[in-house]
Amino acid sequence: MLENEGLTVWNIRRQDFPWKGSIEEKIKFLLGYAILAPSTHNVQPWLVKVKRNSCEVYADRTIKLPQADPKGGYLYISLGAFIKNLIIASKYFSMFERVTYFPKKNLDLVAEVFFKKSGSKKNVNKKFEMLLGAVPQRKNNRGLFRRKKIPEYILRKIEKISTPSGIRISYISDSGSIGKLAKLTAGGIRTLYSKKAFRYELAGFINHNLSTKRKGIPAYALKMPTPLSFIFSSLMRLFDMSVPIARVNYKSISSVPLICVISSKNDDPKTWLEIGRMFEALTLCFEASNVDTSIFVAALEIDSLRKQVKKISKARYEPRFLFCAGYIIGEIKHTPRNDVEEILMH
Ligand SMILES: Cc1cc2nc3c(=O)[nH]c(=O)nc-3n(C[C@H](O)[C@H](O)[C@H](O)COP(=O)(O)O)c2cc1C
Repeated sequence: MLENEGLTVWNIRRQDFPWKGSIEEKIKFLLGYAILAPSTHNVQPWLVKVKRNSCEVYADRTIKLPQADPKGGYLYISLGAFIKNLIIASKYFSMFERVTYFPKKNLDLVAEVFFKKSGSKKNVNKKFEMLLGAVPQRKNNRGLFRRKKIPEYILRKIEKISTPSGIRISYISDSGSIGKLAKLTAGGIRTLYSKKAFRYELAGFINHNLSTKRKGIPAYALKMPTPLSFIFSSLMRLFDMSVPIARVNYKSISSVPLICVISSKNDDPKTWLEIGRMFEALTLCFEASNVDTSIFVAALEIDSLRKQVKKISKARYEPRFLFCAGYIIGEIKHTPRNDVEEILMH
């Protein structure tokens, strides 16, 4: 079977860092980690301008998701995850100098990351080795989770990750509350997927299993067998499958040992970007401990459901992001990516 070339980006290895290369080559290598970040429908809404000793990160405004992301918050969360990966990689290779967010008050220029030249191999910062190693391992896991609790020592490690002021994380591990959150998510999915416009938009980003497209979600990531994958997006456009899709997701969430809800006081691009960085830090920390994660935001899209999520999760602020953590059953394959050359602005 022909492999999608957009999957080769996951073979990145820290041993291949171009120690003797130019700063531009080094920055491009670091970007190889950044592009592995998760994004809504795998739209990869990032563009970068590599400068002499820095890299500007832009939101790709050609990507529009009026149904899945009406406020644009998920765009910034995805960009936040991208920037977090870039920072982790540059810290590991001792190239990180500083980062400024929204440096020009232009909401498209999201961040500028400044780099040092980096020295020798001896200078790698081992503190970031586990997180860096987790970047090409991470994936969004869909399906049923094993009935296995996450060991306490891993949870303690995760809880130690500091949160910026105005952002809080709630950890929900009692099965009663997990069941309720699963029900709310199923409710959100039923509402969203019963809207034709939502289904049309999502169907446009679902690719069949043999597709060579580098953006969008391959149907195998949704557990779709190859023959069905060829007609799945047409079926999604034509039929309201909200009830069975909600049921599958309900079962999946009900099986997890832990749900994490990120809540924030503010609701603006700067905060969404912080949430994205926070989420990526958490998911990589889980991944480094061999814990799988899975994102479910449907309940947060409906005001009445989000209010209930807030109550059940005892979130301090308004819930903005929800993901599950545990041990997925079966093998999950990576989704493709555009490679670094394709995201460069000249
Ligand atoms: C902001 C955001 C929201 C997402 N929401 C969902 C969701 O509600 N349900 C879901 O199955 N996946 C969701 N995802 C996961 C993406 O579909 C996934 O990251 C993307 O397809 C790339 O796959 P990968 O994470 O395995 O590399 C979300 C991702 C992001 C960044």
